[in-house]
Amino acid sequence: MSEFVEGRESAPFLRPAYISDAEGIRAMVNKYAAQGLMLPRSLSSIYERIRDFRVIVEEGKVLGCAALQVCWADLAEVRTLAVARDLRGKGWGRELVEDCLKESARLRVPRVFTLSFTPDFFLKLGFARIEKDDLPQKVWKDCIHCPHFPDCQEVALVRNVGNGE
Ligand SMILES: CC(C)(COP(=O)(O)OP(=O)(O)OC[C@H]1O[C@@H](n2cnc3c(N)ncnc32)[C@H](O)[C@@H]1OP(=O)(O)O)[C@@H](O)C(=O)NCCC(=O)NCCS
Repeated sequence: MSEFVEGRESAPFLRPAYISDAEGIRAMVNKYAAQGLMLPRSLSSIYERIRDFRVIVEEGKVLGCAALQVCWADLAEVRTLAVARDLRGKGWGRELVEDCLKESARLRVPRVFTLSFTPDFFLKLGFARIEKDDLPQKVWKDCIHCPHFPDCQEVALVRNVGNGE
């Protein structure tokens, strides 16, 4: 079998994203974005950042995703976290975030933050609320493209992950 052909496993599993997952990621994220639950992402921004993504896949279909984007030597961001409606409440959101934290630790990036409309979920996962002003200016460079700018409703949260040693 070609290395680019994967089995169509009938149980969901987590793996790094392939470029062929980009359309599925966009469809799921933008469905939630239309309901105001998260920010939309363009296909081109997903292609450019595909190495940041991990996905939950079942029978070749993307049912969950999260991205870890490195911002600075000591800071990375969990972005674009979503789990398909039918799969919610089964622990996959937690798995996705923990996989991001693991990667941050592997990279020796000691702190991970997120900007979220659902802070309670992240509080359960050991994140703590912080003031947005505590995050470096660099984090806000994408805000100008956000449909909510400048009335940001997202909550900033952070978690230490250590240095992976
Ligand atoms: C938020 C989301 C990713 C959670 O995924 P999920 O797979 O349902 O979450 P899990 O099953 O891993 O839940 C882990 C824990 O968080 C809790 N939890 C899940 N969603 C929650 C929410 N919205 N608020 C508070 N707690 C939540 C669960 O009860 C569970 O707690 P437990 O360990 O005590 O049982 C998912 O609901 C989703 O995609 N929502 C729409 C998009 C969105 O809001 N994205 C967030 C980025 S802004």
